[in-house]
Amino acid sequence: MKKEQIKEIVSRMTLEEKACMCSGADFWHTEAIERLGIPASMVSDGPHGLRKQDDKADHLGVNESIKAVCFPAGCATAASFNRDLIQEMGKTLANECQAEGISVILGPAMNIKRSPVCGRNFEYYSEDPYVAGQMAGALIAGVQSGNVGTSPKHFLANNQETRRMTCSSNVDERTMREIYLAAFEYAVKQGKPWTVMSSYNRINGKHATESKEYLTDILRDEWGFDGYVMSDWGAVFNRVEELKAGMDLEMPASGGDNDALIVKAVREGRLDESVVDTAVERILDIVYRFEENKKPDAVWDKDADHEMAAKIAQETMVLLKNDGVLPLDSGKKIAFIGQYAKKPRFQGGGSSHINCAKVTGALDAVADICQVTYAQGFDDRTETTDEAMMAEALTAAKEAEVAVLFVGLPDIIESESFDRSDMKMPANQTTLIEKVCEVQKNVVVVLHNGAPIEMPWIDRVSGVLEAYLSGEACGAAEVDILFGKVNPSGRLPETFPIKYEDNPSYLYFPGEGNEVNYAEGIFVGYRYYDRKKMDVLFPFGYGLSYTEFAYSNLKLDKKSMKASDTLSVSVDVTNIGDRAGKEVVQLYVNDVESHVLRPVNELRDFAKIELAPGETKTVNFTLDKRAFAYFNTTIHDWHVEEGEFNIRIGRSSRDIVCEESVYVEASGRIPVTYTLDSAVMDIREDPAAYELAKPYLNIDILTVDESDDSASAEAMSPVMMKAMIDYLPLRGMMSFSQGKVTLAMLEELVEKLNSLNK
Ligand code: BGC
Repeated sequence: MKKEQIKEIVSRMTLEEKACMCSGADFWHTEAIERLGIPASMVSDGPHGLRKQDDKADHLGVNESIKAVCFPAGCATAASFNRDLIQEMGKTLANECQAEGISVILGPAMNIKRSPVCGRNFEYYSEDPYVAGQMAGALIAGVQSGNVGTSPKHFLANNQETRRMTCSSNVDERTMREIYLAAFEYAVKQGKPWTVMSSYNRINGKHATESKEYLTDILRDEWGFDGYVMSDWGAVFNRVEELKAGMDLEMPASGGDNDALIVKAVREGRLDESVVDTAVERILDIVYRFEENKKPDAVWDKDADHEMAAKIAQETMVLLKNDGVLPLDSGKKIAFIGQYAKKPRFQGGGSSHINCAKVTGALDAVADICQVTYAQGFDDRTETTDEAMMAEALTAAKEAEVAVLFVGLPDIIESESFDRSDMKMPANQTTLIEKVCEVQKNVVVVLHNGAPIEMPWIDRVSGVLEAYLSGEACGAAEVDILFGKVNPSGRLPETFPIKYEDNPSYLYFPGEGNEVNYAEGIFVGYRYYDRKKMDVLFPFGYGLSYTEFAYSNLKLDKKSMKASDTLSVSVDVTNIGDRAGKEVVQLYVNDVESHVLRPVNELRDFAKIELAPGETKTVNFTLDKRAFAYFNTTIHDWHVEEGEFNIRIGRSSRDIVCEESVYVEASGRIPVTYTLDSAVMDIREDPAAYELAKPYLNIDILTVDESDDSASAEAMSPVMMKAMIDYLPLRGMMSFSQGKVTLAMLEELVEKLNSLNK
């Protein structure tokens, strides 16, 4: 509907009607106003399937939802590194929404996996903002191509479940921009979501729902978002201020109380009625965007979508270890051990939980290939070993030639609403793996979890397949990969540290009381481990294949460039094995030298390609200013520092296979305010300032005579002298120059230096 038509409808609404429109009619609907022909519009969880509650509604899945299809969760879809595939998943979800009359699906959930133990990590994509933003953008584009809206969530800095409704995420500006905002920025700019869901938590003390800075200045004015912002369910704390900040729709309803506050504030002159009008216009714009593109005859074929879920799952699993045991030989005696072979854990608990019409476990799927023996091994409702189950598992393992263990994290450990307390698997499952290794040398572990776990047994097993929580058809995909029908092509969208304590947020997670200090700053995930050169279990971007890929011919189209130019990068990738396979080509940028702390490598692009044996493909990337920039807090903008940058192609952040460098000119001069306390080195390192200061600095005390071998020179080595001079504040020159430098000279210098900022 045209903006003018919407404005016209709003002009006919009473203040009460408009206030009412700013909150839900119930758990899942926006208000209808019959008098004006405004229809109600349904929203529904999300993100990886429909959790449509027909009758009794609640937000954490206590009451049943309709039978639906569960696709791989965010943790898994990110591992596919395949934008096209996730876009296809989005299209499929849109068709389901159309068939069910749902205008907006509540996802993607895309918070950064700051800590491996965040309870909702299974829904989230990555520790890296580029991956999170790209995968979210792909899902959004897919869903919205079917004229159904999305709601990237939870905006912003909602990276834990502990006290999620009261805690304050205390994040500095650069970190917010480079990590937490960046993920949403990529998604919003690429996908243009119809709505955004603002989170429960506070940010630096202020509720996210009340932040004009994030909801309006950045989201709308900088990034061009033009839909409506809705609250997470119950994330309304100060309705009038939130409306002013740009939080348009309260979900669900608050029994009319908050609407009444809006009316009162307008009547008392504390809230301009135009603010209410704008919010209603935004909501109606989306209501009609769906309404006018409804497809009431859409057919939801659950079997076809189950097959689609299986196809997606094939690309979401990451082969972490393989000493040659995989792919399995169906002629061998194989034992499937572990509850998750029969009843897989393929999704997490909470608002994303799907009531599945059909589930395929590995035990069902393997029946088409060969006969295996099965033993349950453990009960995932407890961490205590069941001795009878253990005995049965050990017999099955002993009698087989290969034992495949289907283990992972149960719902009692990993779910919405609480965080994990450590990175361990339940004790009964760890014991099972260890005991099976004692009786069987060919052990393959298939993991079902939404985030990293510790693997104390890693050296004793022959193979590990990270299946993540890959949806209702996970068993089919697992069997296809285990037996080699499908070549695994997932890569880790997050680092697996050796132990929880290695994680950069460990000391600050989940905070003290309501205060959560993101003290690790920008050093989240691999940005930290790589900079620390810390051993990890599996690095970011890692994953094996049944074939091998070789890289050659890395080319940059320039050797030097302005920050405003673009750089074209190409690299050849060849499948040098004897099976077709998919490779994730990862491009990292490394700033060789910088005045600010920067990660060693930052992922700036990736591409997934398929190659037949012997085939070579050229992969092209285009990098712009942002690929080289960091967020500068003096100019409050992205800035490129002049110098050499390495363009690196890697199999993971730790396995760089080729690199070329490019010289990039600075994107501008960062203004510096000089005072008498500015250090000599700060002036020397600022070329423009140094030029001006040379006549003042050209005095004996600032030069080091490296050939002097007198006793005094021994006491003060040139290195030491140089350091002392570098760190000397300008005013110090008065004390050491024996009258050659006067206060008047220094004041004149400072004035000249500061004139550079004009
Ligand atoms: C969750 C959201 C969800 C909403 C509605 C909230 O508790 O945080 O992700 O969309 O409930 O179920």
